[in-house]
Amino acid sequence: MEKRIAVYPGSFDPITYGHVDVIRRSLKIFDKVIVAVLDNENKSPLFTAEERIGMIKNVVKGMPVEVETFSGLLVDYMKKKKTHTVIRGLRAMSDFEHEFQMATVNKFMDDDIETIFVMTDKKYFYLSSRLAKELAKLGGPVSEFVPKPVEDKLKVKFGKK
Ligand code: PNS
Repeated sequence: MEKRIAVYPGSFDPITYGHVDVIRRSLKIFDKVIVAVLDNENKSPLFTAEERIGMIKNVVKGMPVEVETFSGLLVDYMKKKKTHTVIRGLRAMSDFEHEFQMATVNKFMDDDIETIFVMTDKKYFYLSSRLAKELAKLGGPVSEFVPKPVEDKLKVKFGKK
């Protein structure tokens, strides 16, 4: 039987427990998840694409997950990977408008693309990479929000270690 594969695109700057939760949930539906890290310096990420990939690989060890970068349009990347399903995590209603816009634009560009929204656990409804970075920068506790390898990298980045 053909494997069910989905692409989970994002900035992952850095990966949080919210993202890990979405990956775990997606693996209940799909045989394999490709985590596609946007390599776009215009977004001025804190971590380079290589650093973000390294952290994700560390965190998803043992799971049927592939991690790689992409640049340009997501729909073009999907064609290259010969997959049709995009996974996006949904937290509060505030995510909806932007997600709805992206899913609609992707569908407009390629009618074969389907976007599936996976709800994150309520524990992570308020969590974002931005929040984790802000806390880490100010020396706040981040262990509840990001896996240990990410926490260590954040501390190094902000000179807290
Ligand atoms: O984690 P993010 O920053 O919310 O992820 C956004 C991402 C990477 C999924 C989105 O910006 C994207 O797909 N960028 C690639 C360019 C593209 O295809 N744009 C058209 C759809 S908005």
